[in-house]
Amino acid sequence: SRAKNQPVAGNSPQSIKPSATREVTVLFGSETGNCQALSEDLSQKLEEKGFKVVLSSMDDFKTKDLKKVQDLLIITATHGEGDPPDNALSFYEFLNSRKAPKLKDVRFSVLALGDQSYEFYCQTGKDFDQRLEALGAERLHPRVDCDVDFDDLAAEWMEGVLGQLQDSSQVGQVEDSNVTKIAQLQTGATIQQVTKYSRTHPFQAEVLENLNLSGRGSNKENRHLELSLEGSNLEFEPGDSLGIYPENDPALVDRIIAEMQWDPEAPVTINKVGEVPLRIALLSHYEITILTKPLMEKAAQLSSNGQLKALVAPGNEEKLKAYIDGRDLLDLLHDYSPWEVPAKEILGILRKLPARLYSIASSYKANPDEVHLTIGTVRFHAHGRDRAGVCSVQCAERVKPGDKLSVYVHKNPNFRLPADPDAPVIMIGPGTGVAPFRSFLEEREEIGATGKTWLFFGDQHFRTDFLYQVDWQRWLKEGVLSRMDVAFSRDTAEKVYVQHRMLAKSKELYQWIQEGASVYVCGDEKHMAKDVHDTLLAILQQEGGMDQEAAENYLTDLRKQKRYQRDVY
Ligand code: 2AM
Repeated sequence: SRAKNQPVAGNSPQSIKPSATREVTVLFGSETGNCQALSEDLSQKLEEKGFKVVLSSMDDFKTKDLKKVQDLLIITATHGEGDPPDNALSFYEFLNSRKAPKLKDVRFSVLALGDQSYEFYCQTGKDFDQRLEALGAERLHPRVDCDVDFDDLAAEWMEGVLGQLQDSSQVGQVEDSNVTKIAQLQTGATIQQVTKYSRTHPFQAEVLENLNLSGRGSNKENRHLELSLEGSNLEFEPGDSLGIYPENDPALVDRIIAEMQWDPEAPVTINKVGEVPLRIALLSHYEITILTKPLMEKAAQLSSNGQLKALVAPGNEEKLKAYIDGRDLLDLLHDYSPWEVPAKEILGILRKLPARLYSIASSYKANPDEVHLTIGTVRFHAHGRDRAGVCSVQCAERVKPGDKLSVYVHKNPNFRLPADPDAPVIMIGPGTGVAPFRSFLEEREEIGATGKTWLFFGDQHFRTDFLYQVDWQRWLKEGVLSRMDVAFSRDTAEKVYVQHRMLAKSKELYQWIQEGASVYVCGDEKHMAKDVHDTLLAILQQEGGMDQEAAENYLTDLRKQKRYQRDVY
């Protein structure tokens, strides 16, 4: 615990304050929970080394305390087009405003999480790094930018930061031996052989069910999967997601192999995996369906094709962006032949195939040995070819009951039912966005929660797209669900969306919020979640007599109280 590991004062160098009073502040800006999990991990490591730690989301950190900060470690994600995550926004704005204090006694380091397939890769981390320097803070350790496969780089950054902190204070050396002793005592008392499955060590879950939820004639194919977690010791809460490590489409893999005339059996060495046949490497270990700018640049270096070299040259950014969009590795290899380098050099520039996250649609308490998912199948046509979402189409076409999938639980601390089971809950989840609300209601039924609940659901057609209709109807009858409003957008001449239903019930909605309801939104981010947000603002103005600014502040406040939570993608 925190109290036990108070640092012991050592003979600190003159230049810094005695280590007993040195405190490390760890702030995170988290989008899906990865940065929060890393921050918790880092804090634990710091405490084990004897440091005093303040751990907080940027949102919850009092900016007036910035002046007192000594060592500041920032772990942040980047949102969409280079914006800070929701829970980093207010801190980001403060730091970039004139109100920000000079920070010349502060030492800092930034860990940035991002995705190279986005143009503004790790932008928020870069911004914090620059701004802290501009405010006079001293960089304790260089910033590290991580792509989706962040584990190794994040661990390296943590080691680097811990090393720097220990070098400059006496805490580490003095405390280390004590901590080891405590650790030895503790492990000696409770020797347990429990395998912990995680992102880096996934569980092989057997598929129990795989159904098409969409009716005949639907424009969509939404699947309901049930997986067994028996023997995994994995637990989850409503709001959590399940990560699945998918497999690429064998047909696409075989086309790439044929295009390149590679030997599918040729041995390929993969970091941390070992040697596998080339075909398996392409099936299970490398991302082949997305092109990123860094990938294109590396490919150009391996190529003697002048057109490819020109495409990545400065000045052609827009052309490069347009090329990347909707194309995959097969396009690149085909469009910019010939390739005169060995297969392993090309594989060497590919990213690791990342896991896909799906909001869990069942309650652990209600079904402890199972996990249910709602997966919308992604299929589209682009640049003359049918394209498939890797994981969703695998689940739709190639996963049968009895098969196994590599999975892990991804905690989502930013999408949680209210602690008080009597508190009212408003859920807005059109399409597959309804998944976590099935988990919410299953959980509330199981624990006998009495707070009222209201679900807004929407999809194209009542007849074919009313996902889990039977479940909602049963919960309505039993009172687990108090109200439900549906918006079937393509059954009427005029489109109706969930936000239209909300607006039509604005008086009651406002009333619920006034009574302490928490509002949850899950599903499409770009259009739906944005429109729902604007509609909430409109309702606050209409029913609460607020102006735009007051309504915005009200929603920000709700968010900070964790009464407005979103799981959007
Ligand atoms: P549409 O496809 O008919 O336009 C789930 O996908 C449901 O969300 C569908 O009914 C879809 O309608 C609807 N939808 C599309 N855009 C939306 C938006 N901006 N806000 C809310 N719902 C939207």
